[in-house]
Amino acid sequence: MEQEMSLEGRIARLSEMVGPSGHEEAVREEIRRQVAPFVDDLFEDSLGNLYAVRRPRGAGSGLKVMLAAHMDEVGIIVTHVDDQGFLRFAPVGGLSASVLVGQQVVFANGTVGVIGTEPLDDLKDLKMERLFVDIGARNREDALQRVQIGDMAVYRRAASVVGRRMVGKALDDRVGCAVVVEALARLGDSSPHEVYGVFTVQEEVGARGARPAAYRVAPDVGIAVDVTASADTPKARPLPMALGKGAAIKVKDNSVISHPVLRRLLVERARQRGIPFQMEVLDRGGTDAGPIHTSREGVPSAVVSIPTRYLHTPGEVIDLDDARAAVDLLVAVLQDEIRL
Ligand code: CO
Ligand code: ZN
Repeated sequence: MEQEMSLEGRIARLSEMVGPSGHEEAVREEIRRQVAPFVDDLFEDSLGNLYAVRRPRGAGSGLKVMLAAHMDEVGIIVTHVDDQGFLRFAPVGGLSASVLVGQQVVFANGTVGVIGTEPLDDLKDLKMERLFVDIGARNREDALQRVQIGDMAVYRRAASVVGRRMVGKALDDRVGCAVVVEALARLGDSSPHEVYGVFTVQEEVGARGARPAAYRVAPDVGIAVDVTASADTPKARPLPMALGKGAAIKVKDNSVISHPVLRRLLVERARQRGIPFQMEVLDRGGTDAGPIHTSREGVPSAVVSIPTRYLHTPGEVIDLDDARAAVDLLVAVLQDEIRL
């Protein structure tokens, strides 16, 4: 049954799960179910990173390759419950007050809330501390029956396919998780490498899960799979990335400069196999490749990205063909020898 799941189905299912940083349990269990048929070993560590291991097939000069995609998503955390039962909150990861007003959020236990705002004289006063979550409670006591201080919530939003595109919450980075699962599924008996699909925790609060994961795996090569900005909307800052131009091969962001040999290998394989690709240069942000490439004695690392509009909002948009190209590119690289 799991084998018949489409890439699109995997992305949609994963994006709808509740998984703020440090509370990735539901996402991890879903990935475990999806990836189990395709790997030889599956385990997690004390922080909650999930490792899906595909042993090398046949003899040959295979390397240990770590693919990393983060399971967590941005969210909010309850800091105070007032007498009327309204919840005050702080951000978990990078999200802005302007996208929160009027949004529905959902807690891990299924409690749904809507974000309201104090009356504001000026839009400049639109700050997180002026907002609150209304969970329909009659008073503080009633609220505390369902939500505790320190509980986290995420956007509540179904994934929808719109033409060739998908819109939803947490495509950062559930699309990366789905791409890694799909790549492991597609490898078949064709890879000489030992491939570790690592689904990491707590990326959105500073790539905290990837460092111990990289230490544990001790890979020869690291490839993070994550979203990147897409600069193809009105008056966007001029950057090269756009939806529908293919898998993005990262040159740099603020956490990593992709290893030039790996970067060239990705470009070469994409050209050989006719896989659509684009180069990515990001002037901010980071991914799990940051801590991976600086782990142990240093790990040659690269990033395959999926361009995404409206990052960290409930309406993130990707092009499904870019996600497909990312799967094709990973499979192409993993099927052949990697010479560093
Ligand atoms: Co993010
Ligand atoms: Zn991300």
